[in-house]
Amino acid sequence: MNSNQPPSQQDSSGLLIRKMIEADLDHVIAIDQISFSLPWPARSFHYEIKENFTSRSWVVECDGQVAAMLVNWLIVDELHVATIATHPDFRGRGIGKKMLVHALRAARDEGVIRAFLEVRESNTVALAMYRSLGFVEDGRRKEYYKDNNEDAILMTLNDLAGIEGD
Ligand SMILES: CC(C)(COP(=O)(O)OP(=O)(O)OC[C@H]1O[C@@H](n2cnc3c(N)ncnc32)[C@H](O)[C@@H]1OP(=O)(O)O)[C@@H](O)C(=O)NCCC(=O)NCCS
Repeated sequence: MNSNQPPSQQDSSGLLIRKMIEADLDHVIAIDQISFSLPWPARSFHYEIKENFTSRSWVVECDGQVAAMLVNWLIVDELHVATIATHPDFRGRGIGKKMLVHALRAARDEGVIRAFLEVRESNTVALAMYRSLGFVEDGRRKEYYKDNNEDAILMTLNDLAGIEGD
């Protein structure tokens, strides 16, 4: 876990955005497994919070429950959004976007100038979320996802200084 991340943030709606800790892992893994056709191996999340010094990993608590999770990798002045998911029971309430904005602002405060990610071309909800934050499509990886050979769209946010949303 990195000690130089900003403090957690509780907003007026009672959402608490904070760093991911070991006690969250069962919930984080459950969210990952229910959200993706190719979930990460469970041990990967343990590695992210205990060993990977580039990792910036977050959760959102809603009424005391872990409702969403996000793992980013910070490499020099770039942030790679590695995985993000909101539990299905909590989707469509602004949680995923608030969490991502919080993480992008935290990364900006650490000197990051650019963020990038891959997203399935069929994932219209995620594409809309990223576009609404200023991410632009700037590439494609052919047949990137091995379960159905779907292409990945590459998206980049080139100006973290101007990150919008809340
Ligand atoms: C993508 C995901 C994380 C969004 O989380 P969420 O908490 O439901 O998202 P929010 O409620 O904060 O909405 C964020 C944006 O997504 C878009 N969005 C949300 N629900 C939508 C819907 N039903 N239809 C279209 N767009 C939608 C909107 O752009 C919205 O922003 P806006 O409300 O300002 O217009 C969530 O759908 C999820 O976990 N999906 C499965 C995992 C996944 O696909 N992760 C992304 C991998 S690249």
